[in-house]
Amino acid sequence: MSNPLIVDIHTHVYPPAYIDMLRARRKVPYIHDPSDGGPPRLIILSSDDDSNIPLDQRGRPVDSSYSDIQVKLGFMDKHGIDCSVISLANPWLDFIGEEQASEWAQKINNDLESTCAQVNNATALPDKPPRLFAFGTLPLGAPQQVAVAEEVHRISALPHIRGVIMGTTGRGNGLDDPELEPVWGALQDTQLMLFLHPHYGLPDEAFGGPEIVRRYGHVLPLALGFPLETTIAITRMYLSGVFDQFPKLRILLAHSGGTLPFLAGRIESCIAHERTFKVNGGSVPGPQRGIWDVLKTNIYLDAVAYGTAGLKAAVEAGGGSTDRLLFGKILSWCPTLVTFFDADIFQGTDHPFFPPLNEEDDKWTSVTTNYKAISASFGENEDAVAAVLGGNAVRILNLK
Ligand code: URA
Ligand code: ZN
Repeated sequence: MSNPLIVDIHTHVYPPAYIDMLRARRKVPYIHDPSDGGPPRLIILSSDDDSNIPLDQRGRPVDSSYSDIQVKLGFMDKHGIDCSVISLANPWLDFIGEEQASEWAQKINNDLESTCAQVNNATALPDKPPRLFAFGTLPLGAPQQVAVAEEVHRISALPHIRGVIMGTTGRGNGLDDPELEPVWGALQDTQLMLFLHPHYGLPDEAFGGPEIVRRYGHVLPLALGFPLETTIAITRMYLSGVFDQFPKLRILLAHSGGTLPFLAGRIESCIAHERTFKVNGGSVPGPQRGIWDVLKTNIYLDAVAYGTAGLKAAVEAGGGSTDRLLFGKILSWCPTLVTFFDADIFQGTDHPFFPPLNEEDDKWTSVTTNYKAISASFGENEDAVAAVLGGNAVRILNLK
């Protein structure tokens, strides 16, 4: 198949107003400008703000790739990405409470919408999808949960919004919080995709304490903390019966579902052996639907796994074929191929995170590693590769 189409559904941005807000803060999350004129530092993880590390070296360097949409477009060109679904990066608006949360959500969502509209007007090409769509953000800290549901309904009418990105804490009590029911209801009614993304990781103690975390930089929090955080959040949702109450919810799990595809069988087995659930004689209602049914019906996965073993687990969990995995890239513009598959996996890059350490590098290894894993997993089947790299995203998120 020639001229394959490539879509990136996992790609972040901090709009300039958000960057300014981080710059004005002095506690996590914040941006610090070193006095020696070195690159600004992005200090967003709690483990970043370690008083044993000099302030000028905390967190990670942050440059224009985090906020300048022209740099994003340049990155897309360099990696052959035709279309991106951009989303605010972590920690979103989680730290903004009260009335300000709604103001910020509207500002960010309107900004995302107008950025997509402007770019698409300037770059429209025949036979290609528009270049940009977006996942909006929610005012989860708003005093009334109805304000969150209202924002879902408002942005569902914006032409370029295809879903919302959300962290794992919800309104502060996790995603099995009954206070989130109006939000799940609004997402189900609008059929906006919920992109569930980690930020908080695990407590330092889970890794052996702050000294161990500091010794290995971001490896433990990002490689292990993030995927386990996602797994715990979605499992709590499942255990609490959210998918029984809202059977049409659509959730895209970051990083190929964390470790959910690998652990789903174990979760199922532990439930079957747990006396606390009504079905086993206890008092807790417990989930009515099976975890594999939820995985096949409600859950979408990206292909940001960086290896074939993880990717194959994701495909297997999604029903054993490739259209339940979304990458962010498609190898060819071939809308009919999607009828060949019944699972949905999408490609993503996680740009602008994981830039090459060597600035002279042309393509980003974090991107090419995922392309290679997709190719190694489905290389024989061009249609499957094309579906994961973009066809699934175009179809499921209606990127037209
Ligand atoms: N690190 C982050 O903080 N966020 C991401 O999305 C990826 C890496
Ligand atoms: Zn990400």
